[in-house]
Amino acid sequence: MFAAPTWTKFSEATKADLDAIEAEESRSSGLIPARLLEYLHSIEGVKMDTMPLGAVDHCRQSATRAFRDGRDEEYVVCALLHDIGEALATFNHGDFAAALLRPYVSAENHWMVKHHPLFQGHYFFEHLGLDPDARDRYRGHPCYRRTVEFCALYDQVAFDPSYDSLPLDFFAPMVERVLARPAAVGDGLGPLALQETMAG
Ligand SMILES: [Fe+2]
Ligand SMILES: [Fe+2]
Repeated sequence: MFAAPTWTKFSEATKADLDAIEAEESRSSGLIPARLLEYLHSIEGVKMDTMPLGAVDHCRQSATRAFRDGRDEEYVVCALLHDIGEALATFNHGDFAAALLRPYVSAENHWMVKHHPLFQGHYFFEHLGLDPDARDRYRGHPCYRRTVEFCALYDQVAFDPSYDSLPLDFFAPMVERVLARPAAVGDGLGPLALQETMAG
């Protein structure tokens, strides 16, 4: 247990206060997987009438397809969470999911999640008067093929109501393991310092 804080401005906080905050943030960050799963459960039935599936059912199908293809656990978790921001950051949901996953996944998976909306547009941008090949601005990027493949195999096809997707609880242990610890914490950075290194 820590003493109740007496500071009311950060400029008054002592090193002991910051050590206590870091320790508590470390403990609290262990609850992130459970919070994410609770959120997914809470919106599982939400579906727009114009879509064959709601966002969570789409994500379960995307993750199930990736899992059944033998993709590794981190990839499967990326598939499960790639659209978690649809209802919260509708216009930049790739950025939202990528920011959430960044401390825990490879640079390649982070890039793939961040850019998937533009790559997914290959399949429907023509109907919106946009360039279906807009993704080709990244042709030659090391993650280009990876992101094309993700959309082709696990995203744009994952709207089939007849597909037998696995339940959220099946993926819960994977989410727990992948999001167990930010990679940089193992390098000696605490949560506050880690936030600084990930800014910008
Ligand atoms: Fe998406
Ligand atoms: Fe998607």
